[in-house]
Amino acid sequence: MNKTKIDARLLAVADLVSDGAYLADVGTDHAYLPLYLAERGKLSGAVASDIHKGPLESADKNIREAGFSDLIHTVLTDGLQGIEAYPVTDIVIAGMGGLMIRGILEKASAFKKNSPRFILQPMQHIPELRRYLGENGFSIQKETQALAEGKFYQILLCVYDGTVRSYTDAELLLGRYNMEHKKENKENFRRLCERQMDILREKIRGLEKGNHSAEKEKALYGAIAEELLDL
Ligand SMILES: C[S@@+](CC[C@H](N)C(=O)[O-])C[C@H]1O[C@@H](n2cnc3c(N)ncnc32)[C@H](O)[C@@H]1O
Repeated sequence: MNKTKIDARLLAVADLVSDGAYLADVGTDHAYLPLYLAERGKLSGAVASDIHKGPLESADKNIREAGFSDLIHTVLTDGLQGIEAYPVTDIVIAGMGGLMIRGILEKASAFKKNSPRFILQPMQHIPELRRYLGENGFSIQKETQALAEGKFYQILLCVYDGTVRSYTDAELLLGRYNMEHKKENKENFRRLCERQMDILREKIRGLEKGNHSAEKEKALYGAIAEELLDL
């Protein structure tokens, strides 16, 4: 049997799952992530869930064919509902928008007690997700990035500790962890900054064209440019 292959994005997610984890893969689709980890002996168990029947059927088929039906259970559910019945240590929510991930976390209070690792890979609305995490007691312990087929992805590892944190606008855009560790991760940090500066440049142009104030965006642009100068 051929082992499951995953791309650089899911690989970066897999790297953050702890050894021997009991994984919850929310929105599993084909179950590639739990299969990849199970085949490498990294899991003590897993629950692979999806809100849609089609993806879950595909996950079921792949799990059965790989011979992991005893290790990886599948559940048809919205977000983390019903997943509290499993002894989960690591929760992955990957390949969805940041607002959708936020919506799933808002209903995840049952998971705050035993402090599992949350490994989040939002496709967009990442500043909004960072703000939510900070304001709702999630500590962002690490951030990593991956480049797959020309696309740049960001992955956040967090744990709920109940402490509220507020981030500056630059920290929301770039990630406080990334700013604090930029010298260890220069290439990706440069990429992060340049991307945000491109977006801000466009925004400033649009605002000025419509005769609106762009002072806030200009200040943010300056703050990011300074981060780059100090790299
Ligand atoms: C783009 S796929 C990502 C698959 C995989 N997690 C990955 O990163 O490659 C998103 C999956 O999330 C599922 N999904 C969307 N909203 C969900 C929710 N609220 N709860 C569970 N699954 C959801 C979709 O049905 C789909 O299979």
